[in-house]
Amino acid sequence: MLIRDKKNILITGSSQGIGLAIAKHFACKYNVFITGRYGEKLKNLCNENNFAGFIPCDLSKFENIEDFHKKLNTNIDILINNAGSYIYSIIENYNNKDIYDSLMLNCAAPLILIKSFASHMKSQKWGRIINIGSISGVMGEANASLYSMTKASLIGMTKALALELAQDNITVNIINPGWVDTELINNENLQEDFSRNEIIETIPQRRFVTPEEIASVCEYLISDNAKSITGQSINICAGLSLGY
Ligand SMILES: NC(=O)c1ccc[n+]([C@@H]2O[C@H](COP(=O)([O-])OP(=O)(O)OC[C@H]3O[C@@H](n4cnc5c(N)ncnc54)[C@H](OP(=O)(O)O)[C@@H]3O)[C@@H](O)[C@H]2O)c1
Repeated sequence: MLIRDKKNILITGSSQGIGLAIAKHFACKYNVFITGRYGEKLKNLCNENNFAGFIPCDLSKFENIEDFHKKLNTNIDILINNAGSYIYSIIENYNNKDIYDSLMLNCAAPLILIKSFASHMKSQKWGRIINIGSISGVMGEANASLYSMTKASLIGMTKALALELAQDNITVNIINPGWVDTELINNENLQEDFSRNEIIETIPQRRFVTPEEIASVCEYLISDNAKSITGQSINICAGLSLGY
């Protein structure tokens, strides 16, 4: 249900994993809009968690991303670009569809959604945009060049837009998670190369980052206390970015 005096927050890729944890974290405080590809799943989540609405949409298709604002039919004050896909593969095995879909979902969708909601944020002189990148975009990950490329590009976009929107009281930041124990890492190719324990052995703190830790940092970045933090690339990675 939409409540008039609450801010509207859109979290893409919120049918599960990190996005759903963020959505649940904000369910009482904001009008939360969730997205994913499957309407029935989103509808159930919406009913169970009292979210304000849901938009089923495959964000790897250009025409769907452009239409998204119309489908949503409301303005957004806080945008969290979280939807993303992870391809773990040697470079010779990428096909054109992998490349196109990853570029659309991981790069173009965040940019076009910001384009859709920036005018409203500008007009009210307040907005918060958080992109969810990856430590693979900060450091590079072997056998994930496409994914690393898309996530590195989000860092550039974040800095450029933070500058462009600074005088409108809109902050733009990027959170780069390390390994988080979600569906995303149940990836067949990855599991052939690394067991769960072998992944943990590569993490300095020897643990996965939790989705709730990411939601807490989002809460801080949205708060008034963080109004001077913009254009920042924040690693939440249990030490992964430090080397080992
Ligand atoms: N897990 C990690 O270790 C990790 C590490 C670093 C960064 N990240 C980043 O964190 C973000 C969330 O990842 P996660 O771990 O929570 O992954 P996840 O559990 O696989 O969730 C991915 C979300 O994105 C949505 N999604 C996937 N493809 C989509 C498409 N074509 N169109 C629209 N929505 C789509 C999924 O919805 P449906 O499947 O229901 O459509 C789901 O809600 C991603 O950007 C990821 O790159 C994750």
